[in-house]
Amino acid sequence: MFNFENRVVLITGAGSEKGIGRATALAFAEQGADLAIADLNYEGACETCEVLKAKGAKALPYRVDVTSPEACQDMVDHIIEDFGKIDVLVNNAGISQKVTVEDMTLDDVKRIFNVNFYGMFNVTKACAAEMKKAGYGRIVNLSSVSAKRGGGVFGGAHYSAAKASDLGFAKNFSREYAMYGITNNSVCPGLINTDIWKSLPDEQAQKVIDLIPMGRPGEIAEVAATIVFLASEEASYITGEEIDINGGMHMD
Ligand SMILES: NC(=O)c1ccc[n+]([C@@H]2O[C@H](COP(=O)([O-])OP(=O)(O)OC[C@H]3O[C@@H](n4cnc5c(N)ncnc54)[C@H](O)[C@@H]3O)[C@@H](O)[C@H]2O)c1
Repeated sequence: MFNFENRVVLITGAGSEKGIGRATALAFAEQGADLAIADLNYEGACETCEVLKAKGAKALPYRVDVTSPEACQDMVDHIIEDFGKIDVLVNNAGISQKVTVEDMTLDDVKRIFNVNFYGMFNVTKACAAEMKKAGYGRIVNLSSVSAKRGGGVFGGAHYSAAKASDLGFAKNFSREYAMYGITNNSVCPGLINTDIWKSLPDEQAQKVIDLIPMGRPGEIAEVAATIVFLASEEASYITGEEIDINGGMHMD
């Protein structure tokens, strides 16, 4: 459907077996992309690469802690050595924590911001310099419905705040870098059928489903398809945009 031949795609947090990152990597591979698969979980990143290579894609794993600016720069330098460029960045690495504000500690808030916001910043900054030199880039951030309506099911107020910060950053970034041929868009998934969803007791899952007009959680492939579109040539005039993927649970 889309042509990603000779495009190099970096996805962070793509080592999780049932996660959005691996599904997104597979969706890009199906469109001909080469993949740089980065994760704190290096074994998971290697597994993702094996899955991608079995589909005929070129894929290399990178161990990175996105909270470290030095590690992110080092990863980007290695990817440039290995692939020659980075055309697409998907800022997917993220963590959440279900906790009330009264039980939340400042360390909890810092930990959630470190990965979900500063991590996105570290990788984006390192890639932006390369994309600017190349005069081309596509960046897609994984935000969340929680950024817009508050969380409550799997995340706390700190998660909502960090994911909302990602949206504000992307809007400013997209204005700053449009002149260099770089776009930056965001996806805001609602409740997606990952391991975290499966961990919900049936009764609680049903209560959540009752809030979703489509009557079901989303599938990782549905999120992946939207990310691939935003990174494609077909989305060349879209920047600073946020796409909701939530079955009608929240609309704005
Ligand atoms: N699953 C959902 O319902 C849902 C909904 C909305 C948004 N999101 C967002 O989508 C993204 C992917 O979610 P998922 O459910 O697939 O998550 P997941 O837990 O399956 O995968 C996240 C990956 O990020 C990696 N990671 C964590 N900290 C890292 C760090 N410091 N450096 C590098 N990698 C790190 C983990 O090792 C893991 O492989 C996240 O940003 C999440 O907040 C998910």
